[in-house]
Amino acid sequence: MDLEIPAARTILKASETMKEKSIINPFGAPVYYQEAVSSTMEESRLLAARGEAHGTVIVADFQEQGRGRAGRPWLAARGQNLFFTILLRFACFKAIPRAITLRTGLAVSLAIEDFAPPLRGQVKVKWPNDIMLFSKKTAGILTESDSSLVYIGIGINVFQREFPAQLKAKATSILIETERAGQSGNTDRERGRDILLGHILARLYTELTADRADWRSRLEERLFKKDERVRFTPGLADSPLKVEGALRGIDPDGGLIIETEGDKRLFTTGELDVYGESERKL
Ligand code: BTN
Repeated sequence: MDLEIPAARTILKASETMKEKSIINPFGAPVYYQEAVSSTMEESRLLAARGEAHGTVIVADFQEQGRGRAGRPWLAARGQNLFFTILLRFACFKAIPRAITLRTGLAVSLAIEDFAPPLRGQVKVKWPNDIMLFSKKTAGILTESDSSLVYIGIGINVFQREFPAQLKAKATSILIETERAGQSGNTDRERGRDILLGHILARLYTELTADRADWRSRLEERLFKKDERVRFTPGLADSPLKVEGALRGIDPDGGLIIETEGDKRLFTTGELDVYGESERKL
């Protein structure tokens, strides 16, 4: 299971400065905007508490305490990137689609290609929650749940050109890679991010709503390091244990299959080591 279930949080008041954006949302729910928030994950919980519908989105220009997987911070510049959380309500815990984070990754990678056609064929999904462009991270997905309520938070580096020293070698943006491909791309930051959000919602709706039994094969076509030799840290953060082998694919529940010495092994938690050192240092 790839959902992170956090401890109970302080209930904050939903902000009164929230506006509604006129972005088409195929879930039929509002897309709210707020300039700065602590984290869109918290705002989404507040929206759930006040009874907002399945598919309600909260998007912000800046997060003071954006968070990533496994308690890491999510650091990204103001006004250049896309940060949002979508609230999904299911009938019960069992109705949550299997491998929801990876299927979201598939949707996000397709949407990035819709938004930036010069990048077609280059947008990869790195197990379990990253989107990569040329071996650098351009987006991350954080899925949390409270029983049948699911909060999917997505952060995408869209127009950021400069990254802090500790991220430079590991992070990139859609703009950087579109320009590297010799294309100018969409540079209207306001409209560009809204257009990208529209593409993501459209793709997400199709991936999570339609009965797409072929999600695994479509995901494996764009799986980062598929059939390549990888180093993997299984389990919880800072485990000294490493596994080396060939990355073979994804199982129906979203587990990672690595082949070591002829044996196929399945992992449900852990981290792929891309840069020769654990990404947990990010
Ligand atoms: C990761 O790569 O570890 C996941 C990053 C998820 C970041 C997004 S930005 C929108 C939403 N709000 C947050 O605080 N985190 C997620």
